[in-house]
Amino acid sequence: MQGCDASVLLDGSATGPGEQQAPPNLTLRPSAFKAINDIRDRLERECRGAVVSCSDILALAARDSVVASGGPEYRVPLGRRDSPRFATAQDVLSVLPPPSSNVPSLLDVLRKIGLDATDLVALSGGHTVGLGHCTSFDDRLFPRPDPTMSPDFLGRLKRTCPAKGTDARTVLDVRTPNVFDNKYYVNLVNREGLFVSDQDLFTNATTRPIVERFARSQRDFFQQFGVSMVKMGQIKVLTGDQGQVRRNCSARNSGTADGLQWSSLVQTVVDAAAEGLGF
Ligand code: HEM
Repeated sequence: MQGCDASVLLDGSATGPGEQQAPPNLTLRPSAFKAINDIRDRLERECRGAVVSCSDILALAARDSVVASGGPEYRVPLGRRDSPRFATAQDVLSVLPPPSSNVPSLLDVLRKIGLDATDLVALSGGHTVGLGHCTSFDDRLFPRPDPTMSPDFLGRLKRTCPAKGTDARTVLDVRTPNVFDNKYYVNLVNREGLFVSDQDLFTNATTRPIVERFARSQRDFFQQFGVSMVKMGQIKVLTGDQGQVRRNCSARNSGTADGLQWSSLVQTVVDAAAEGLGF
């Protein structure tokens, strides 16, 4: 919401519910939040202090999950610091596009954060793994089937979600649900995208050629996915003495001077990345 600052990891507080409690984020998995905190604890021990920020851990964990499921390796610039504040539920609702969004409205949202149509198509390829709830797409099944969906796929989804509001989940990528590959785009070409936000990438004249290119070439998809992830991971990052390096990813540090002794190291890494020197 506020940039790549790990604010989504913060628990709510006495001042109100956090980002996690906002409806679009309710499906984020508790096991994922725990995994990040476990990594954080191990780094705290290894580095003897709060050196690696939760936002850098998130960016690296995202990269490693992609690699572990068969996807591309890409270099992640480091040096982010963490926000001491979470976005409100209202902010989340006003900024995060719902899965019923079409391409023009997705592009509107992305343009505001410096991303374009190619980024949209490449990043949506993240839906090559994972699960979605019936309630995220059942308005495409009831009361009338979405005509852009293949009849076979419709039949299959109706077996998982026989009525509106069924509490069940299905795979986002019907061909290779657990492998990070380009089959997500092959699904779209075959009208087997799960959300409107997926299928419209093929219906829309601006994004269709990009979908077709990625469906033909996994190499092109992998290359662009890395570029777009790095771009997304640099949106409004906190560096230098901004924000903090959280000791516990779920809670902001108390006091104000926390973690600042590491700002020069962090800044050096950011500068090196910006100059293309690696990290
Ligand atoms: C383009 C805008 C996007 C929309 C509208 C969107 C929407 C959604 C929705 C509705 C779900 C399922 C929630 C549920 O019903 O449980 C989901 C799941 C998921 N999304 Fe996206 N998403 C978008 C972009 C992305 C991006 C950029 C990535 C990563 C690069 C991504 C990766 C995932 C993954 C991995 C899951 C599965 C999570 C799980 O298995 O628990 N999505 N997305």
